[in-house]
Amino acid sequence: MSDQQQAPEIYKGLAGVPVDYTAVSKVNPDTNSLLYRGYPVQELAASATFEEVAYLLWHGELPDERQLAEFEEFERSQRGLDHEIKRVIDEIPLTAHPMDVVRTAVSVIGAIDPTTADDSREANLEKSVRLFAKLPSIVSYDQRRRHELDYVEPRGDLGYSANFLWQTFGELPELPVVSAFDVSMILYAEHSFNASTFTARVITSTLADLYSAVTGAIGALKGPLHGGANEAVMHTFDEIGPGEGGAERAVEWLDAALAEKRKIMGFGHRVYKNGDSRVPTMRDALERMVEYYDRPDLLELYTALETAMGERKNIKPNLDYPAGPVYHLMGFDTETFTPLFVASRVTGWTAHIMEQNAANALIRPLSVYNGPDERHVPEGR
Ligand code: COA
Repeated sequence: MSDQQQAPEIYKGLAGVPVDYTAVSKVNPDTNSLLYRGYPVQELAASATFEEVAYLLWHGELPDERQLAEFEEFERSQRGLDHEIKRVIDEIPLTAHPMDVVRTAVSVIGAIDPTTADDSREANLEKSVRLFAKLPSIVSYDQRRRHELDYVEPRGDLGYSANFLWQTFGELPELPVVSAFDVSMILYAEHSFNASTFTARVITSTLADLYSAVTGAIGALKGPLHGGANEAVMHTFDEIGPGEGGAERAVEWLDAALAEKRKIMGFGHRVYKNGDSRVPTMRDALERMVEYYDRPDLLELYTALETAMGERKNIKPNLDYPAGPVYHLMGFDTETFTPLFVASRVTGWTAHIMEQNAANALIRPLSVYNGPDERHVPEGR
């Protein structure tokens, strides 16, 4: 680059760069708040069901009674898995990560759906509800087949979260568990232009179909810097070892990990620097589950690690930190945690896909070349 030319500024990781408007959600790190279509997520977690929140994200308003009844009727009719999808899942080796299974299953749903190419809002809404309804069947079936258990048919008389737990464990869950699970689904549902949502919007911006965008988003969510962190948190807990003395071991473990310059999973956030707005609500759910399953040792370890991380690095936990142990207590396999995040975030992704479609511009940034100057292939080569 010549001296006269000014080096263009590079925004590595697009950090701090606004790339478009969105009316789906607002993350405000200064006030530590997260709004879905204007509503604080804590209020939604306290007074709405995940089905109502999904409706809100897609339609912009909470449903009235009739709208909710219609939505639930359609959603419940879509929960089952076609034979083709089950067959494809069965052929995926058990050595594959459950995120690979979920990504493949969504791709297959897109390959079979005759309306895949229809990108009208009506068709995309239907596809969104279809994915929302089928993901619990996919995620639960994958966990069950890893334990040599059969698929459990969905139940049309149960709400989303109760049915999800029913399909996974084959028994009716108690109310406190359903409620904590529902809260986690609501908190994970949407978070503006995070990496997977942005991936979905990039794919949509090429006018590719909704299933392709969701499949790509699942790939982005798999990474441990994004959705994969909730399962990584549980690996940390396992490394430390809950049980008696877990709190002391947590502090020793942290000092050793920081000395090795390891990233501590479930801590830190690209946008929130003073704490994740969703954590207090999820921590409350964790406390309820710790009491329900009588595992105070888990909360002691949790608190000790959080406190030590605050003292050593002044870095606060993100949503994955309390969510990981909650899913563990409920009986989900650690590798199933990120697929649970998919089941929730599909609502936010699809809301963004429809928003992108409605006011599209191809997303195509510039790069600044820093490779070798122009050169030529030697003659006779
Ligand atoms: N453990 C240890 N150090 C951390 C950290 C963590 N979880 N998160 C941030 N830091 C440190 C970095 O090492 C860096 O320190 P340095 O300036 O001395 O190099 C500084 O804080 C800034 O971190 P950086 O990774 O540049 O910030 P970012 O905005 O790019 O990263 C995350 C945000 C989420 C990727 C990062 O916090 C992280 O990797 N967290 C762990 C994974 C996780 O929980 N992801 C889920 C996010 S919801």
